[in-house]
Amino acid sequence: MNDLVRALPVALKERIQASCQSWLVTGAAGFIGSNLVEALLALGQHVVGLDNFATGYQSNLDEIERIVGAQAWRQFHFITGDIRNIEDCRKACEDVEHVLHQAALGSVPRSIEDPLAIHDTNCTGSLNMLLAARDAKVRSFTYAASSATYGDHPGLPKVEDQIGNLLSPYAVTKYVNEQYASVFARCYGFNSIGLRYFNVFGPRQDPDGAYAAVIPKWIDSLIKGESVFINGDGETSRDFCYVANVVQANLLAATTESSTALNHVYNVAVGERTTLNELYSRLQANLLPYYAHLQDARPVYRDFREGDVRHSLADISKAIANLGFTPTQNIGQGLALAMPWYMKPRACCGHQDANLRSNSGDLGNTNVKIPTG
Ligand SMILES: NC(=O)c1ccc[n+]([C@@H]2O[C@H](COP(=O)([O-])OP(=O)(O)OC[C@H]3O[C@@H](n4cnc5c(N)ncnc54)[C@H](O)[C@@H]3O)[C@@H](O)[C@H]2O)c1
Repeated sequence: MNDLVRALPVALKERIQASCQSWLVTGAAGFIGSNLVEALLALGQHVVGLDNFATGYQSNLDEIERIVGAQAWRQFHFITGDIRNIEDCRKACEDVEHVLHQAALGSVPRSIEDPLAIHDTNCTGSLNMLLAARDAKVRSFTYAASSATYGDHPGLPKVEDQIGNLLSPYAVTKYVNEQYASVFARCYGFNSIGLRYFNVFGPRQDPDGAYAAVIPKWIDSLIKGESVFINGDGETSRDFCYVANVVQANLLAATTESSTALNHVYNVAVGERTTLNELYSRLQANLLPYYAHLQDARPVYRDFREGDVRHSLADISKAIANLGFTPTQNIGQGLALAMPWYMKPRACCGHQDANLRSNSGDLGNTNVKIPTG
């Protein structure tokens, strides 16, 4: 059975497999979007993917095809398109029952450097998606929100209705998404659910580029024998969430039969805090059996980064109560599943074989795989 499907609660799996429904995943070629596409195809669903490859990859789609097989792959229809163009959104929403809206430009630092680009995609693009989905009369609309919305609120754990001052243009765009969704419920009776992801990790998360997330970036650097930089003293903490938990939350939100669960935002995380120093130690320990050069590796500490929040930890009780959310992997279990994927030689990253210990030849066949939000 597919790894993502295996992690789903049985009742949810059965609810979805009971019929073949039509789903639109925006950002389908990206990290989270491609995991959603994979799970839905493995569940026998019909899936439309929309992406403009701004930060997504054809290789992610190719990997899904290999994993789910030819029969399920025939149920996938991909549209190369841009959510900033409403006609692309309307086309993608045609005959679709459920929308999982993931497309966005991520990264706090990118948003500080280029707020207009982030605004165009995340605000205008998401408004286009809401309009297109409303007009197509879809049954459900679930969208990716972010823990960045908590900004500088000091409370821990983070509770959905207590947010502080926003710390980056990215956070503003994610908050605007929530506000538009709420206004669409009031003005048009259009229902949706927002999922505030905390730091998600797992297979197909891009390790490359200036805006890579901390886990794939550090693994890539460790494997290559490059310096790993910790911004600050390393006691900054995050609630790292394995991608299978995010898939579960999306499918629960889209198929909920509880009307009181609608038009809310929910934290999606595990509810456990890991400091960057702890994360570094975990990654080093996971990789050490395969990469002897990591024996004496140490991180390099540098200044705190603008826009980063100090601590992030989710209260997930609202998602548990209203959606039946049950995270199935904590950080340790998620890393164990994701590590073989990160260690697999990939053409796009041109890396790591030179440093791999000779006893790790079986990893290539394994098919599993910090800024806040
Ligand atoms: N990864 C995390 O930890 C995290 C945390 C909080 C929120 N989120 C949100 O989750 C969603 C998915 O994030 P991800 O980590 O998979 O990022 P990602 O960059 O891997 O995926 C985003 C996808 O959206 C596509 N995209 C970007 N602009 C587009 C446009 N104008 N039209 C069509 N497609 C476009 C990209 O090409 C990419 O494939 C985003 O909305 C992000 O803000 C992610």
